[in-house]
Amino acid sequence: MNPTLLDRLFWQSGSDKGFGGHLYGEFYESKLKDLRNKPLKVLEIGLSNKPARNDGSISDTPSLWVWAVWFRNAQIIGADIRPFKAPMDRMKTYTLDQGKGADIMNLVEAEGPFDIVIDDGSHLSSDILTSLKNLMDHTNLYYFIEDLHITGNLDVIAYLDFIFGDCAESWWSACERGRFVACIEVERWKKQHTSTS
Ligand SMILES: C[S@@+](CC[C@H](N)C(=O)[O-])C[C@H]1O[C@@H](n2cnc3c(N)ncnc32)[C@H](O)[C@@H]1O
Repeated sequence: MNPTLLDRLFWQSGSDKGFGGHLYGEFYESKLKDLRNKPLKVLEIGLSNKPARNDGSISDTPSLWVWAVWFRNAQIIGADIRPFKAPMDRMKTYTLDQGKGADIMNLVEAEGPFDIVIDDGSHLSSDILTSLKNLMDHTNLYYFIEDLHITGNLDVIAYLDFIFGDCAESWWSACERGRFVACIEVERWKKQHTSTS
């Protein structure tokens, strides 16, 4: 199999999203390929699956680096319950608990709105839903939630289906153990929502 560019970047950076891991690159590319040069604001919650070194290296916050490479003109915001260093001008990091609405709203006040949000944090349903409910009004284009294959996330899947209908797409990756990521097409959902209300 020939990995996509994003799968390769994820793999080379040490993120688990790509080649040798969850193989989400193909799905992300299908959504994000036309946005590469846009001056976006991208937020990722959850920055490393290793002990935090907080040294600004690629392997410390791998997926943030990949987003900075993929989105050439974007500002990349990272948030994690552990402190991480932001190693370049276009990146900023915040320490917060995604399960606390007040923490998320403080982030929105400091940095919102966001064009794209990626939730790769605790993967607990209650945390996922707290972040989503607080960030949705402050997100413009896409909201991704990774690793929804976890059994306990059934209520998140039910919520996405009930609230967002066909604007919430789930994608099953071809990786060995099977991994599943959801994407809410926020812009399309907001258009539908305002035109029917
Ligand atoms: C799967 S790792 C992120 C992997 C990284 N995005 C990548 O692609 O390599 C999950 C991260 O979520 C963070 N995390 C766990 N609970 C959290 C919470 N309640 N709020 C914010 N971040 C949390 C962890 O500290 C960890 O850094």
